[in-house]
Amino acid sequence: MEYAFLYDLNTLKLMIPYSRQFINKDDVQAVGDTLLSPLITQGPRVGEFESALRTIHDCADAVACSSGSSALHLAYAACGIDEHGIGIVPSITFASTANAFRHLGAKVLFCDVDPATGLIDLNSLEQNLKLANISRKSGAGVIAPVSFAGKVAPLKECRRLADKYDFLLVEDASHSPLAWEEQGGEIVRSCTCEWTEYATLSFHPVKHVCCGEGGAVLCGTSGEGEVPRRMATHGIQRPNGPDSAQPWRYEQVDLGWNFRLTDLQASLGISQLSRLKDGVDQRRKLASIYNQKLSTSPFIDMIDLPALEKGHSWHLYIIRFKKAEFRDQAYHFLRNEGISTQVHYIPVYQHPYYRKLYGQISLDGAEKFFSGCLSIPLFPGMTSCEQEKVIAKLALFLKQAG
Ligand SMILES: Cc1ncc(COP(=O)(O)O)c(C=O)c1O
Repeated sequence: MEYAFLYDLNTLKLMIPYSRQFINKDDVQAVGDTLLSPLITQGPRVGEFESALRTIHDCADAVACSSGSSALHLAYAACGIDEHGIGIVPSITFASTANAFRHLGAKVLFCDVDPATGLIDLNSLEQNLKLANISRKSGAGVIAPVSFAGKVAPLKECRRLADKYDFLLVEDASHSPLAWEEQGGEIVRSCTCEWTEYATLSFHPVKHVCCGEGGAVLCGTSGEGEVPRRMATHGIQRPNGPDSAQPWRYEQVDLGWNFRLTDLQASLGISQLSRLKDGVDQRRKLASIYNQKLSTSPFIDMIDLPALEKGHSWHLYIIRFKKAEFRDQAYHFLRNEGISTQVHYIPVYQHPYYRKLYGQISLDGAEKFFSGCLSIPLFPGMTSCEQEKVIAKLALFLKQAG
């Protein structure tokens, strides 16, 4: 997992990170209160957090768990993915989107992406669905579009294709809480599960809501929460109510995992969630300043910007260098100036693990997106001074490079 260091670990220089958590006194108080309460795990805070998630994301159920990676793992398992299954993912994403299929023994197919947005390419998706249905015998199939950087994946079209080829749909919404966009005349919102069976969230510190570590499976119907909830706690269920003769009885009905979120993490999540809307507003403001200021010379000649869409929730602000060789040069230049940037992402099929498994893959859109992309700092709490510095130093780099 990449991490946004506040200090450069080699020089111990103070850095502007590409992202970081925003913690306030209410957060500290909430965690402190739970720490001093009788239950610091398996207590009431997890249920309260789940209820707050349901409300804010307008979905039928929410199952809190230990990370965004375990949320994917649980959602795919609940879709019936096992060693006979097939998972289809966009190539530009964090490896977890694909890895969770592998943990369940399933085969992964990689789709190409739109080179301007990094989002799943629908033609490539349909080709992969055809291919999958040639090799698929009895196993389940899941498409996992990623609402990458905070822009909603083409969920409506993904649903149409999923239905056509008998696949299920899990939105990896780690980057896109509260994101929405118009798709084919309708407002499509991330996380609601209106178009998907499940959506998953991550609460890693660089994300919109921070629990330290944490994640959630969001569900389209209340019944769909049952399996991920049971599997997150070993596959155990409690058949008897509190007034029965044996209230202590529990039974393990599936082989699950310990993917539980603690009450300490949940109390931080509840406090953070109450500021989610503000955080997204701040991200939108910062993105609009970037778009305005980077739309002039010398920037426009040398970099492409993400489109400034109203419903984007800006987990990442990714610029794309027209000349790919400038990307790494800019990374080093900015780092020397105390600005930490990051590359999101190396196409997942390029990782040695997947190369060994599936051989050489190269997809044009993913390669093009990857070769020039750089995430520059954007996070709630970023000061205008910090943003001015990023813009000025980027200008300096481009003038020297150009
Ligand atoms: C798109 C995407 N999916 C899944 C994950 C995994 O989340 P976590 O780090 O909470 O396991 C991440 C985290 O970086 C992510 O960016």
